[in-house]
Amino acid sequence: MNAFTRESAFRIVIVGHVDHGKSTLVGRLLHETGTLPVGKVESLRKVCEKRGMPFEWAFVMDALQAERDQGITIDTAQILFHTDRRPYVIIDAPGHKEFLKNMITGAASADAAVLVIDAIEGVQEQSRRHGYLLHLLGLRQLAVVVNKMDAVGYAQDRFEEVATEIRAYLADIGVTPTQVIPAAARHGDNIVAQSGKMPWYHGPTVTQVLDGFAPRVESTSLPLRFPVQDVFKFDHRRIVAGRVESGRIRVGDRLLFSPSGKTARVSSIETWNAPAAPSSAGAGQSIGIMLDEQVFIERGQIASHVEDAPVGTDVFRARLFWLGRAPLSVGRRYKMKLVTAEHWVTVEAIERVIDVNDLAAVPTEWVERNAVAEVVFRSRGQVALDEFVDDPKTGRFVLVDNFDIVGGGVISMAGFPDRRCRPDSADNDLTAVAHQVTTADRNRANGHASGILWLTGLSGSGKSTIAMELERRLFAKGRQVFVLDGDNVRQGLCADLGFSAEDRAENIRRVGEVAHLFAQSGMIVIAAFISPYRADRDRVRAIAPGLFHEIHVKAPLELCQRRDPKGLYLKARQGAIAEFTGVSAPYEPPLRPELEIDTGRLSIEESVDLIMRYIDRESVRGEAVGMAHPDVSL
Ligand code: ADX
Repeated sequence: MNAFTRESAFRIVIVGHVDHGKSTLVGRLLHETGTLPVGKVESLRKVCEKRGMPFEWAFVMDALQAERDQGITIDTAQILFHTDRRPYVIIDAPGHKEFLKNMITGAASADAAVLVIDAIEGVQEQSRRHGYLLHLLGLRQLAVVVNKMDAVGYAQDRFEEVATEIRAYLADIGVTPTQVIPAAARHGDNIVAQSGKMPWYHGPTVTQVLDGFAPRVESTSLPLRFPVQDVFKFDHRRIVAGRVESGRIRVGDRLLFSPSGKTARVSSIETWNAPAAPSSAGAGQSIGIMLDEQVFIERGQIASHVEDAPVGTDVFRARLFWLGRAPLSVGRRYKMKLVTAEHWVTVEAIERVIDVNDLAAVPTEWVERNAVAEVVFRSRGQVALDEFVDDPKTGRFVLVDNFDIVGGGVISMAGFPDRRCRPDSADNDLTAVAHQVTTADRNRANGHASGILWLTGLSGSGKSTIAMELERRLFAKGRQVFVLDGDNVRQGLCADLGFSAEDRAENIRRVGEVAHLFAQSGMIVIAAFISPYRADRDRVRAIAPGLFHEIHVKAPLELCQRRDPKGLYLKARQGAIAEFTGVSAPYEPPLRPELEIDTGRLSIEESVDLIMRYIDRESVRGEAVGMAHPDVSL
């Protein structure tokens, strides 16, 4: 049993409700494939006889476990057996406490699963939970064994009943079992050899189904992901060490390190045991690389090719399996480990807790132990990650609380834009040209300073109405003012954009740039955009520091839906508009806006008054929009 066999073996997990016969199945598989040490079964039979108890195949597992506990021979956490076709390893023997944890953390990644169901009891909660978990972890090759057929007299109709029930459940979660096999592990029916007791079944046996599973997809064909484990310094050289999780890395490749955005070229690849330095390395290899430039790199960053970078974000969605003793709750902070990176994340929302029995979504504030939930997390800074469907290695994470793993999950970005960092553009051959007329000159000529009043809020909250009234009143006072409004801008400048998370981010980026230009030209810009993402608004603030004033036009969603000035909420609820803010797309309210206007309580008039007063107040402080400059009198 050398390491090579173990690594190249096809990895299966055997799951199912306790007592449905997993251990018996494993014992029988080992026996019938000739894997057990010679005389093992005989000696166990003898022990049973002596004690006057019937022999059970599950004892084989117990015996192996006992030997393991004494430090002898086989490791039951990794049981190997062979069919004529190939070697298999059963990762993590059923019943192990660490089983779920290992599955979730990826410590035990499997190529296929066998779900065992008792023919008498049928599908139980744990069968469903395990089925759901496999789906969650992306395992799509599944054999279902309806075990203990001997106990139901090998009856076809009972088998069909159980098979139909489990197929229906699996169909709901998008899993099609390769085969549902009637079996009696205790007697060896349909395990390796075809059983004579169920002539009505013409399908393959358990090992035949296993042999038919497709070998694992090599992750070398995925985009490169090289998470940095460590940076070693030898004299003046620095070696960036890590494991290639997916894709392939070559000498000469330009790498992008996320989330920092630094780039550099690979000048050499070092491996620990190869005589000559290789020119490339693929998924699964642990390597060190040297770069052609001294850029700052630290553990946790993910290297990729520039054109195929991971997602960059400070907010993401996860399907989470919760193991913590204390429930997960909104506002709590956990340490997230994602490949080699560690980030603090806060639970922003628990969108639903999924009842694995009927897959119903239960609205709740808590996620209890062993529950599956859809949760939105927010991190302080940018995190580099992938959606699980794109790359299982960088698309899963575990949560740690007080040194304990309390949960694990897979990532989805549905509803949130990718804000991956662009590589530094220091060498893009552009040089800014200075104006001879400055913004200050323009402000003096206009008699007031310029700025951006950014109105954000749900559709129907009153942004556009307030914006237009505010524009009218400021203009009447002789101010240079102009409204940029979502519905207008989207007919021209942003006519090519829709309402996906990425398109909205781009919409706000463009509008932010335009607003900045307008403000530099001396205008008071009133921008009325839903602008649902905090990061987009923060980015506008960052390009126009000091000029940007965030005003949250706030109205409860229920009120906006009742107002529904354009009839869009109704359409959205009927499914005619996808990704509608507040209904099927998120809205992230500002955390510290300069001003909040509650249009649920205030009239348009009062709302505009509030903003006018804000402008006056700011003008006394001498630092903002639309007011007389200290050296200019109106
Ligand atoms: S933003 O999200 O990108 O900031 P923006 O303010 O430009 O949106 O445009 C919002 C307007 O587009 C709404 O007032 C509404 O009239 C219209 N609209 C059409 N489809 C959608 C949608 N799916 N979600 C939100 N608004 C939509």
